[in-house]
Amino acid sequence: METTLDINITRVESSKLNDLSLENIPFGKYFSNHMLEADYENGEWKNVEIKPYQPLIFEPTLAALHYGQSIFEGIKAYKDADGEAYIFRPYDNFVRFNISAERLCMPTVPEEIFMDGMKQLIALDKNWIPFRENHSLYIRPLMFATDTLLGVRPSDTYKFMVMLSPSGPYYTTPMKIAVESKYTRAVKGGVGFSKNAGNYANSMLAAKEAKEKGYDQVLWTDGFEHKWLQEVGMMNIMFIIDGVAVTPDISEGTVLNGVTRNSIIVMLQEMGFTVEQRKISIDEVVAAYKNGTLQEVFGCGTAATIAPIAELGYEDVRMPFDVDSFKTAIALRKHFDDIRYSRVPDTHGWMVKI
Ligand code: COI
Repeated sequence: METTLDINITRVESSKLNDLSLENIPFGKYFSNHMLEADYENGEWKNVEIKPYQPLIFEPTLAALHYGQSIFEGIKAYKDADGEAYIFRPYDNFVRFNISAERLCMPTVPEEIFMDGMKQLIALDKNWIPFRENHSLYIRPLMFATDTLLGVRPSDTYKFMVMLSPSGPYYTTPMKIAVESKYTRAVKGGVGFSKNAGNYANSMLAAKEAKEKGYDQVLWTDGFEHKWLQEVGMMNIMFIIDGVAVTPDISEGTVLNGVTRNSIIVMLQEMGFTVEQRKISIDEVVAAYKNGTLQEVFGCGTAATIAPIAELGYEDVRMPFDVDSFKTAIALRKHFDDIRYSRVPDTHGWMVKI
């Protein structure tokens, strides 16, 4: 592994892996031995270090807690049958992280801290990468404001961190999704395209109310007409309508520019599909369902991977699907897994070796 960054490393005395099995592990519950930290002060990043995973101590006036300057990413690392470790498209997440940082008035993180820091951390905790179908090492880069004062202004100081969580699948069964027509996730000019903590806090009430009606999550719509589809919040959405793949476009900044979304678009095109990134309304989806041309609906995201949707609900219309008949989603998932577990050549240069 080639890295240039000089990092101060403090190792754990004994590995927590001695007491943990990586078989059938839930998503995001366990964390590896080490974490990466760096501090932003006086206009520069400093104190880059890897140390044992441990609690952080802050004053209650920590700016991130009050005014929400907090952004993150989700990335996955895999191990192949030869035990080699790879990260899936980390550079795309690095770029998106800094796009989020700029929107939230936070400093950008230099490439060598984000990329080399993450690689060195994973190299140190390589044994934490599960080798099992649907399992991976989930990588969580995070940056938050660390000034301690109550005035509303961008913080002068920040902490950047990377944590590692050996994880199984996020969704274990096909999802039921309610189309949201009361609350709003994102509007043009807002922060929908960024991965900031507030987007996820904002999603919780809608998800809670959807769960009370028997759904797992919501599919967000625009804030004006509640008609134009956006994303699920935890993942982007993809429809196969009459043999054409359709997904909401990202041009208005109301939909996350998903790395998995982008990979799926490339794979669909290679499979011969026309992929339309455009405005798509719930009326079009309901009409396609009713006339039998809505063939498949699935979500795509880092945590969710490719998640078939077993039911879409919109007002009084419930649209159940036979996910076992989703030929495209099943083929995509297999091909995607084959790439990520290095069972087929990585023709796109998506896998970055540790
Ligand atoms: C990811 O796919 O990494 C996400 O951001 C979802 C996460 C909030 C669990």
